[in-house]
Amino acid sequence: MTIPAEFGLEGHSDADVLAHAITDAILGAAALGDIGAHFPDSDPRWRDAGSLRFLKHARELAEAKGWRIVNADSTVILERPKLKDYRESIRASLAAALGLELESVSLKFKTAERVGPVGEGLSAEAQAIVLLARP
Ligand code: C5P
Ligand code: MG
Repeated sequence: MTIPAEFGLEGHSDADVLAHAITDAILGAAALGDIGAHFPDSDPRWRDAGSLRFLKHARELAEAKGWRIVNADSTVILERPKLKDYRESIRASLAAALGLELESVSLKFKTAERVGPVGEGLSAEAQAIVLLARP
């Protein structure tokens, strides 16, 4: 989804820090390495890739190892714009990609309180924790 803002993030793919963090959390919980190993930015296959594709692919890799995702919690750290009006639609997109109910997908936002590169509006960060279980 497109969120109106005076600037955006640049990246090899779509620079979706939130989807990337959750993707890395899935890979991490399943001990499957990291996002850079699975989706190298040198690989033209992933150029301009929609990050929900990374997310779905990581989920499939974990499922192929016998894991199922129980829930996901995440935080976007961004000075502006405010994201809270988009929380439910972003959660719905993530839930669909993760194959989860809405209530199993948590999404939080915070500013960096004007401190550091994120606080100066130069960058954004995302953190994610994913619980996996073997059915
Ligand atoms: O970090 P801070 O205390 O300023 O966040 C206050 C509220 O603003 C939080 O509840 C958070 O959900 C929201 N927020 C937001 N978009 C951001 C940063 C914070 O909607 N980029
Ligand atoms: Mg605060």
